[in-house]
Amino acid sequence: MFSKALTSSAATVLALSSVVMAAPAPASGLSLTAQLQLADTAVDKYQLLSKDSDFVFDFKTSLFPIATRKNFPALVGSGVSVSIATIDACGIAALHIHPRSAEIFVVLSGHVYTEMVLEGGVVDANGKDRVIKTDLTANMTTIFPQGSLHAQVNTDCTPALIVAAFTSEDPGAALIMPETLALPDDFLSPTFGGAIADKDLKKIRDAIPRGPFFQIEACRKKCNLK
Ligand SMILES: *[C@@H]1O[C@H](CO)[C@@H](O)[C@H](O)[C@H]1NC(C)=O
Repeated sequence: MFSKALTSSAATVLALSSVVMAAPAPASGLSLTAQLQLADTAVDKYQLLSKDSDFVFDFKTSLFPIATRKNFPALVGSGVSVSIATIDACGIAALHIHPRSAEIFVVLSGHVYTEMVLEGGVVDANGKDRVIKTDLTANMTTIFPQGSLHAQVNTDCTPALIVAAFTSEDPGAALIMPETLALPDDFLSPTFGGAIADKDLKKIRDAIPRGPFFQIEACRKKCNLK
């Protein structure tokens, strides 16, 4: 009897300690990403990532073409994220910035033209804001420093495949035009030097594409795209 009781209480202690070991931050209701961020040590963190498959992200089945710490919790603590995307024929990734990240951008196939403005004070020989343009084909890369304004354009009639790697688990993106035009007219009018009438501001607001990707009309004609 005694030895059986001892065995079972030892088993209980073992079971309890393994529960504690398995869940170092078991605050209920927290996402796995949040629990990983709160983990006391890296050892505790890896106990929350108990399956080998926790270390695999499949772009084929992901809703979004980017792996961040939110949809790929194994990234917590790594400081990186990554995206694979197709830029359609005649497609533009609209002018944007990543508020928390530099971006290294690789073209795997196809042809992508990029433009970037860095920051105030970076000017060309004429004292104008310098615009850095690159023309990339397969196996070429460029860098968009953190906070730079940039856009990527595929002016060819075939899709381009790209990989973008980020120096943040949560790089974020801000689309310049929709966010600028979210500001009220009485702010935008003087910002545009009074050159755009209020009714035209409304027209521009209604016309600008909402999403991060859109297509160039002239290119679509050239390529006979429907
Ligand atoms: C790009 O690099 C890969 C790996 O070296 C190579 O297999 C492929 O042929 C290259 N593509 C081009 C267009 O050079």
